[in-house]
Amino acid sequence: NPAAPKVTVVGTGYLGATHAICMAVLGFDVLGVDVDERKVAQLRAGKVPFFEPGLPEKLDRAMATGRLHFTTDFDEAAAFGDVHFVCVGTPQATDSSAAELKYVHAAFASLASRIDRKALLVGKSTVPIGTAARLTGMVQGLSPAGPELELAWNPEFLREGFAVEDTLHPDRLVFGVASEWAESQLRRIFHPLLADGTPLIVTDLATAELVKVAANSFLATKISFINAMAEVCEATGADVSLLARALSLDTRIGGRFLKPGLGFGGGCLPKDIRAFKHRAEELGVGQAVRFLGEVDSINNRRRTRSVDLIRELAGGTLSGVKVAALGAAFKPNSDDVRDAPALDVARLLYLEGASVTVYDPEANPNAHRTYPDLDYVGSLAEAVRHADVVALLTEWDEFREADPQDLGALVAHRRIFDGRHALNPDHYTAHGWEYRALGRPYQPAGRSGAVAAGTTGHGPEAP
Ligand code: UDX
Repeated sequence: NPAAPKVTVVGTGYLGATHAICMAVLGFDVLGVDVDERKVAQLRAGKVPFFEPGLPEKLDRAMATGRLHFTTDFDEAAAFGDVHFVCVGTPQATDSSAAELKYVHAAFASLASRIDRKALLVGKSTVPIGTAARLTGMVQGLSPAGPELELAWNPEFLREGFAVEDTLHPDRLVFGVASEWAESQLRRIFHPLLADGTPLIVTDLATAELVKVAANSFLATKISFINAMAEVCEATGADVSLLARALSLDTRIGGRFLKPGLGFGGGCLPKDIRAFKHRAEELGVGQAVRFLGEVDSINNRRRTRSVDLIRELAGGTLSGVKVAALGAAFKPNSDDVRDAPALDVARLLYLEGASVTVYDPEANPNAHRTYPDLDYVGSLAEAVRHADVVALLTEWDEFREADPQDLGALVAHRRIFDGRHALNPDHYTAHGWEYRALGRPYQPAGRSGAVAAGTTGHGPEAP
């Protein structure tokens, strides 16, 4: 048995740090690489630079094995690795809906120009279709190893909040390869997962790139579908929560990613569908994915509609109204506020003259950096004290489990907007709260607390 390949992982964000740590846990010698000295220093000190449940424990374990190191030095990385994973970000470009590829180009170029022996570069970042083929020419031209330096694409489907689980037990692996050797290298790296029975799809480079954006497009479409139905519900007095539950029991449809509410955000879904649409237009097949523009619009309309409902709850104006914004992260169990619906709603309320007090169990620091004008407080109680309206915007357990009676004792007015269908409306109305949610009939205060089994507003199973 030849020695196990040594692995470098370039980019130590949510994706790269998790990948590097998990590869070390699986038994490989791993070098994590980042241009950000602060991140590298934190990781070297055994600290994960962002909030991700379970990852700090895995980092401790990986560091204890002595198999995991971090560096900012690309010479060291090029000399160390047999297989180099590139996990840098592809954010939305500042001047268009396209993906910004400068970090990807820089990472591949920095490695390629220094690698002088047979090695494999593996892209994990989400990129426009055709990028891998273009990069192959670039890296082989730059590298002293020429065509001995090969390129593969291995898209990553991990969700924040479940990064470790999704990395060690993924639904599937996709290897986009241009040679048998590249496939055999990837099979060696992922052997522990393949031996566990993880399904593997081996494809060409373009298909591998497309799997990722197609999967994210499908998920975004499913969310916007149910949110579009919420708009119809709002016009008819129907209840989207019950609708979603009824749809979800059709096994062909299923309940995951069918949860209505404020919609999707984060560092992936919004920018990926925009970049995909942009790329499809460049390729002359824009018509095929024109609907993704609608998916995006439906998603954004949920935010303005939320502001409308909060304004109605406040009595018709937001000027001078004290709103407790519960949540800032784009979803619970994350400190990520990129394209976060919660923070966007808080910002829109502020722009309409509301006094907005934000509390998120983990995301306050990131949110504060993004919108310093809002008031940030360190507890749920501080956020809701003297509030005219409480707006639940990210469904953290702490908010779902809060007691309506205790909360009611703190607020100025018992009015709640449930942006994530996270609460039991009857529970709140029974305690004198006015309850409003997207896509559900208005629930005035003082309704009876009696709820028939199976008819509560709880949506389908959580994603
Ligand atoms: C997503 C993909 O799931 C993952 O496979 C990919 O690798 C990266 O993008 P992530 O951004 O971490 O992962 O979050 P995810 O759990 O998918 O949620 C995305 C957004 O959709 C969140 O804002 C969430 O609140 C929202 N959502 C999800 C809904 O509004 N309704 C749902 O039913 C499910």
